[in-house]
Amino acid sequence: MAITGFVAFGYIIGHMLGNLQIFIGPDQINAYAKALHMYPALLWVVRSALIVAFGLHIWLGAQLKLENLAARPVAYERKNTVKATLASRTMIWTGLTIFAFVVYHILHFTATTVNPAFEHLTDAQGRHDTYSMVILGFQSVPVAVMYLISVGLVCYHLSHGIASMFQSIGWNNRDTERWFRIISVGISTIVFLGFSAVPVAVLAGYLQPLTGGN
Ligand code: HEM
Repeated sequence: MAITGFVAFGYIIGHMLGNLQIFIGPDQINAYAKALHMYPALLWVVRSALIVAFGLHIWLGAQLKLENLAARPVAYERKNTVKATLASRTMIWTGLTIFAFVVYHILHFTATTVNPAFEHLTDAQGRHDTYSMVILGFQSVPVAVMYLISVGLVCYHLSHGIASMFQSIGWNNRDTERWFRIISVGISTIVFLGFSAVPVAVLAGYLQPLTGGN
């Protein structure tokens, strides 16, 4: 779980930095999106590796949950959690919700099934206008709010996942535990701010599309 989680985490950090280029301007993010699609074979190698990593992560997580349930077939009469955080106890549910979000997100911005007009947006250089697509996507308040809740869940999931990774690789002990918790919450907060900056800037009217999208 730690290895596949780390791969997913690496992708999330890279994706967040990629998205933030929207603040540099349309030319920057559209050139970046074009570069990502420049070598389709390479793109599919990376996508396949990510699908395997995300798939294994979900499968192993579900197995862990089932093992935990099997270890205590009869529920506690009175549950009085002493140490486990709420984030750690809800990993399976935040994880499955994130999976549903990623499916919607790919249909929204990659396959453009949710809004087929997004596929035909182009900028003055004839490139796909990713800049306007993202802004038009977040001009829908319910969609932007759904994204904000979802990236909140991603970060809540990460806040336990990162700490848990240090535990899995054996770095955690009585002295380091507190610090790893602080680092996990700190990184998760930065990831939340990085992802939510885009929908918030659109809702605030700071980012405007190049075209109306029709
Ligand atoms: C507000 C936050 C986000 C924005 C603005 C955003 C933006 C985008 C855009 C524009 C694409 C299409 C890229 C392209 O085909 O050129 C994309 C793809 C994708 N995003 Fe996001 N994203 C956000 C959050 C997330 C999060 C939190 C995750 C993961 C948990 C994620 C995972 C993905 C994946 C897996 C793809 C498909 C990549 C591919 O086509 O190979 N995104 N995103």
